[in-house]
Amino acid sequence: MRILAIETSCDETAVTLLEAEGNQTSAQFRILGNALLSQIDIHREFGGVYPAVAKREHAKNLVPMLFAALGEAEVLVEEKGTPSSAGALTELLAREPGLSNALIDFLSTYRIPSIDAIAVTHGPGLEPALWVGVNFAKALSLAWNIPLIGVNHMEGHLLSALTSTVEDASQFEISDVALPVLGLLISGGHTELVCMREWLSYELVGQTRDDAVGEAFDKVARMLGLPYPGGPEISKLAEQARARDNTVIPSLPRPMLKDGTCDFSFSGLKTAVLYLVKDRALTDTEKEEIAHAFEDAVSEVLFAKTSKALYETRAKTLVLGGGVSANMHIRRLFTERIALEHPEVSLRIPAARFTTDNAIMIGISGFYRALNKDFLSAEDMKASGNLSLT
Ligand code: KG4
Ligand code: ZN
Repeated sequence: MRILAIETSCDETAVTLLEAEGNQTSAQFRILGNALLSQIDIHREFGGVYPAVAKREHAKNLVPMLFAALGEAEVLVEEKGTPSSAGALTELLAREPGLSNALIDFLSTYRIPSIDAIAVTHGPGLEPALWVGVNFAKALSLAWNIPLIGVNHMEGHLLSALTSTVEDASQFEISDVALPVLGLLISGGHTELVCMREWLSYELVGQTRDDAVGEAFDKVARMLGLPYPGGPEISKLAEQARARDNTVIPSLPRPMLKDGTCDFSFSGLKTAVLYLVKDRALTDTEKEEIAHAFEDAVSEVLFAKTSKALYETRAKTLVLGGGVSANMHIRRLFTERIALEHPEVSLRIPAARFTTDNAIMIGISGFYRALNKDFLSAEDMKASGNLSLT
């Protein structure tokens, strides 16, 4: 099965053509074409992601990304003609005239490629950004008469973390996954523990009551005068502090550690950092020490709550997913402590390319959804900023 996957939920415009075979017991994947454009350099100037800017950039970049992914997959054959649905496409993309013209141009140049389904992120994320991707997918589905699948971005993070690479980087598989799976999903907008007892069915075990972890990283980074996105910057400083032997680590709270739930809270921790930095000119060493203390506090709380959730759900597999799962310290701490404290649990940490947003993960989720015949009509497909997994 060939799946065209589209991701525009935040600040990455991504398109992938994925070949997938198998079933829920064992599935094999091959990336035929993959294109991704990060808008980070544009958003960095504003210190965060502006939905209207993200939307404008997606509209500008979707056709070039589609061209790049399908070109790499060698499925584009030139054949001039006007798409019969040009009028409907213009109507569907009325709010994006630039995108509409570029797409009609593209469709009038190439023959319909051999694709079985179009999977698109329909939430959660920035709603204006999501809508561009969703309308683009609807337009392609209409022009090519190919079924549509709506993918939950967080499911993409979770399932892509289950992959193992075979042969080269373009091939991977998902097999031998022992259920239940517990997912710790940590990104800029989410911090949640979800349990998958059966494929594609989720139970919420715990979630943040205020800030998401990635958001806390980004806010603390800003307090330390570091650029957006803050996660990788904090991580760099924290690692520098760890490499010294005379580091003084300021004391920071471990919020909600003993409250008896699997929920999180990061806003108190963020405020505690604010008190540390307030009205002071920090030296580079002090910044590194604060980053170190903050990262330690976050990682310990994440691990403690995940450990509790593992006992409660009796999960056999643990996966980390989302942008924050790129964090070296979190990866290290989970690897060491799961081996020590939950040796029966198989820990799956995503490969680096699956930690940041991409369309491969949307294709993976799209494949399992297609096996379930979870297709959506264009009328029923909507972008939903708060779409939930559970
Ligand atoms: O999943 P993602 O790319 O986008 C969302 O769906 O939100 O996650 C982005 C978040 C940002 O808050 C970013 O600061 C954080 O992931 N992040 C990190 C690291 N790399 C990215 N946080 C901590 N350490 C990192 N190495
Ligand atoms: Zn994400």
